[in-house]
Amino acid sequence: MDRDTLYSRLAQIVGPEHVLTGADVSARATHFWDASPLTAAAIVRPADTAQTAAVLKLCHEAGQVVVTQGGATGLVKGHASTDNDLLLSMERMNDIEPVDFTGRTVTVGAGAILQNVQQAADDAGLQLGLDLGARGSCTIGGNISTNAGGLAVLRYGMTREQVLGLEVVLPDGTILSSLNRMMKNNAGYDLKQLFIGSEGTLGVITRAVLRLRPATPALATALLAFDRFEQVSATLGHLSHALNGTLDAFEVIWQPFYALNTDTEREGSSQSPLPRDYALYAIVESRGSESDATDDQFEQALGSALENELIVDAVIVQSERERQNIWHIREHIDIALQHDPVFVYDISLPIADMQPYVDSVLTQLQQRWPDVILYVYGHLADGNLHILVAPPAEQELEAEEKARWHEFSNQLIYQPLQSLGGSISAEHGIGLSKKPYLPLSRSAAEISLMQSLKRTLDPSGILNPGKIFD
Ligand code: LAC
Ligand code: ZN
Repeated sequence: MDRDTLYSRLAQIVGPEHVLTGADVSARATHFWDASPLTAAAIVRPADTAQTAAVLKLCHEAGQVVVTQGGATGLVKGHASTDNDLLLSMERMNDIEPVDFTGRTVTVGAGAILQNVQQAADDAGLQLGLDLGARGSCTIGGNISTNAGGLAVLRYGMTREQVLGLEVVLPDGTILSSLNRMMKNNAGYDLKQLFIGSEGTLGVITRAVLRLRPATPALATALLAFDRFEQVSATLGHLSHALNGTLDAFEVIWQPFYALNTDTEREGSSQSPLPRDYALYAIVESRGSESDATDDQFEQALGSALENELIVDAVIVQSERERQNIWHIREHIDIALQHDPVFVYDISLPIADMQPYVDSVLTQLQQRWPDVILYVYGHLADGNLHILVAPPAEQELEAEEKARWHEFSNQLIYQPLQSLGGSISAEHGIGLSKKPYLPLSRSAAEISLMQSLKRTLDPSGILNPGKIFD
């Protein structure tokens, strides 16, 4: 099928104004941190599941590659497209059904923005157990296809734990509607799990039933400072115990990232409520129902940590404004991303191994680049660190040279994880960026089964091909 025929048949399905080409494609940015013009043969915007199915059936017949895109906030090039690819945008499928308060669910279109779903749950007196920095632009479909982690995993688990039902269109256009709303449904294979975290390679998520949680309006937040990593991990253990199930977040920040984001000379930085030269910081947040008396419990738990010299310094948040400021120190990764080059990592490893690992990575990087900057922060309780490596770039680097630097850094970061029992991807997925390193975290047998599932569900290989594995 030639391109013109394909486009005119696509236009018949979704309407001509929803097949974007040329300047309408390049007017969009590649992703949130790459402003270069988006590359794709066309963008197609279906209105509903039936249209999505018709588009996929057509592309299956035509052998046309389809890359599904949500909010384009991923960090591993899982949604990268070439100028031969059709970009399937779920932006019109963003409806949010009324919340089922008693059943504690909400059913939403894949294109619904995370923050809007959070708001709908809040308005109904419940909450969604999923939150991440990109909440204002990422979509539920993207969150599910990447099994996103984020800031609430400690208490509520990854996105997988928030999904009760899923509707998916298979690459040949078959609609697999499993919009289950029950907490319990052990009727055979739980097929939705196949699509959660499969990065758009097995099917296109069109709709989801999300599990909601009781609201936790009582809120206490603090910024803590430490001299040594052992104090941080001991404080996590102490607070997990003392706060009796109300600990929602425990985010760790090593000094260089903290100092960068509180350098008020820089645009987008935050005020630091504590001295900026402690070795480590943590943001901790406890949430409960009104009857949990979160404030008192929180102050007591922090007080005993200070007495026992687990915490060196602390500030308890007194207003929503202070709270936003403290979270901004952690969530605002844009300043660090302005380094060029900068290599971004998302790894997991046992908490006890973190500081020796960070020290060893830094020492080895410094042997090659004495002035390298290493930013480290992450979701401590999940064993998940984000590492940003910024080698000093004194002169303009050729792309090839940059790639060699990147490869050197990748080896240093990823190789030790295998023997530590960690993962090369804690929460961002594999996409294109981490594909060469997948064997460090998955066995040959696991990868082979992934490949045979891919062949079974997508025999003509039209759906996001070349992502995760070849
Ligand atoms: C974060 C993203 C990078 O936690 O996962 O900041
Ligand atoms: Zn993260």
